[in-house]
Amino acid sequence: MTKPDLMMLCPQRPAAMAQLDAAYRLHRWDLAPDKEAFLAQHGPACRALATNGHAPLTRQMLDLMPRLELVACSSAGFEGFDLATMAQRGIALTNSSPALCDDVADTAILLMLAARRGLVAADAWVRSGNWARKGPFPLQTSVAGSRLGVVGLGTIGQAIAERGAALGMQVSYWNRRDKGAQWRFVPDLVQLARESDTLVAIVAGGEGTRGLISAEVIDALGPQGLLVNVARGSVVDEEALIDALSAGRLGHAGLDVYASEPDPDPRLTSLPNTTLLPHHASATVQTRDAMAQTVVDNLAALFAGRELLTPVDLGAYLPG
Ligand code: DGY
Repeated sequence: MTKPDLMMLCPQRPAAMAQLDAAYRLHRWDLAPDKEAFLAQHGPACRALATNGHAPLTRQMLDLMPRLELVACSSAGFEGFDLATMAQRGIALTNSSPALCDDVADTAILLMLAARRGLVAADAWVRSGNWARKGPFPLQTSVAGSRLGVVGLGTIGQAIAERGAALGMQVSYWNRRDKGAQWRFVPDLVQLARESDTLVAIVAGGEGTRGLISAEVIDALGPQGLLVNVARGSVVDEEALIDALSAGRLGHAGLDVYASEPDPDPRLTSLPNTTLLPHHASATVQTRDAMAQTVVDNLAALFAGRELLTPVDLGAYLPG
């Protein structure tokens, strides 16, 4: 039996690659020197493509794959995809949000606890001998009993809220619509920031959420406030963030994502009141394998005529 053709924009983890290689005729766009010619030659045969959200998927690329039915994406985010063209052509999208939920939620809590307890500076205090030389490390701030505001109550936002509650925090959330969840819903983001000690951003990236954490939101969080961003750099007005952190109008930022990756703004990386990770929230062996497996499983579902496992509702991401 001939194997179905599969366009590969990005390689996947080794175990997933082995399965894909066994089941499909792989067209490695990622390795092609002339990418447009490669797509023109092999695109017409492909009903599916495998990628991740860091690779582009433009209208021109989609035009070269007229039979495309499924974009199987191994990341949660998909900012570089032309969703309008996909929706117009009825091309389905699957992503990996369920697979990375726990690790990303854990990372939000990791950044929050590290920032509140001064983990990075405390580690340096011990290593430098300051403990013996200068005395005890300064007192830090409790998380238990403090107020957590979750910005975006999707699957991951819910997991962050649950973890916050387990730590004894009072949880509230902002979302485009009231999810009827057990946490307090605050429809005004500035109000949520004003009423939170820690604000965690976990909304999808893209134009719809660009600058959502605005200067006003940052100022409302205030000099004792902590902003944690495990969403996308674009979600935060980074100029306003740098300004507020430098002037002490915002207490601290715990960031996994940046406007410019992998070279964040040096003004941000030189500030002492930041705790920084290199876009690593989902970066564990287990989770990255599970994310890649969602690609394999969704493709298998497509070609077997079964329901897709992790479909994305494109309508929710299109303007209007
Ligand atoms: C995602 O899956 O979107 C994460 O940010 C890792 O790329």
